[in-house]
Amino acid sequence: MKVLVTDPIADAGLARLRDAGYEVVTDYDIDTQGVIDVIEDVDGLLIRGTEITREVFEAAENLQIVSRAGIGVDNIDIPAATDHGVIVANAPRGNVRAAAELTIGLAFTVASQVPQAHQRLKNGEWAKDDITRTELGGMTVGIVGLGRLGQEVGRRFDNLGLNVAAYDPYLGEDRADQMDVDLLELDELLETADMLSIQARLTEETRDLIGEEELEKFQGDFVIHTSRGGVVNEPALAEAVDSGKIKGAGVDVYDTEPPGADHPFMSVENIVTTPHLGATTRNAQVNVAVTSAEQIIDALEGELVKNA
Ligand code: MLT
Repeated sequence: MKVLVTDPIADAGLARLRDAGYEVVTDYDIDTQGVIDVIEDVDGLLIRGTEITREVFEAAENLQIVSRAGIGVDNIDIPAATDHGVIVANAPRGNVRAAAELTIGLAFTVASQVPQAHQRLKNGEWAKDDITRTELGGMTVGIVGLGRLGQEVGRRFDNLGLNVAAYDPYLGEDRADQMDVDLLELDELLETADMLSIQARLTEETRDLIGEEELEKFQGDFVIHTSRGGVVNEPALAEAVDSGKIKGAGVDVYDTEPPGADHPFMSVENIVTTPHLGATTRNAQVNVAVTSAEQIIDALEGELVKNA
């Protein structure tokens, strides 16, 4: 059986697949068309960022499973997979701690203006009297999307002394109470929070969830975005920070990745940007690679595929 791996994954995942006796083909430069060209005799597909369209499923003769070594499956045409009887799996746990830590890191970075201070000092400027940091402790953070990542982020903010509120139409009051989180409507959250932390998955419902109107209503100072490009309207956020309506933002994810040098965020000093590094720690990459490899082995051996 042949497994095609289209994005760099940890060696531990590749080793699992090889130990299971599969032919493992790695091609990290391949694009969607390249996948379509070679998919005919592939049994299992292991991906991260590669877009898997309906055409891929149409060209596949033997494909049984696509596993994404990460959480989001928004780059896979799931209805098309279903139409062709192909299993779609993800690795929903292995990189959550990594993404939560980056979220907290960005929150400190943005509120303390670390990159700006760093750059000015490197340029020979002692900006001590110019830069006033903002403490996170005592703030109210408003988490948009209290799924697995949102909950990890919430726990960490809570431990740091922030009040944690959240908007999540799918979460019950009981669960929110257990977590000691104030569950609010989006408008209330925008009026209450000092910092918004966006952790919602990208769906048709969450696309542009935080747009011009919401940023206008937002009474706080900072926005952190580490879930998926598309949930926050990028030109609206760039404008809100550039105009000073919002003091700063920290962003790891973009509508189109990589976003390019002319992206509106790149010229706004108080938007701190990272290149979708949420999942990129060594531990997380080993975790998700092994999970995906095991899912592929299970599928190809006719076992139940677990999304664990
Ligand atoms: C995820 O969905 O878990 C992340 O986008 C993972 C990644 O960067 O591959």
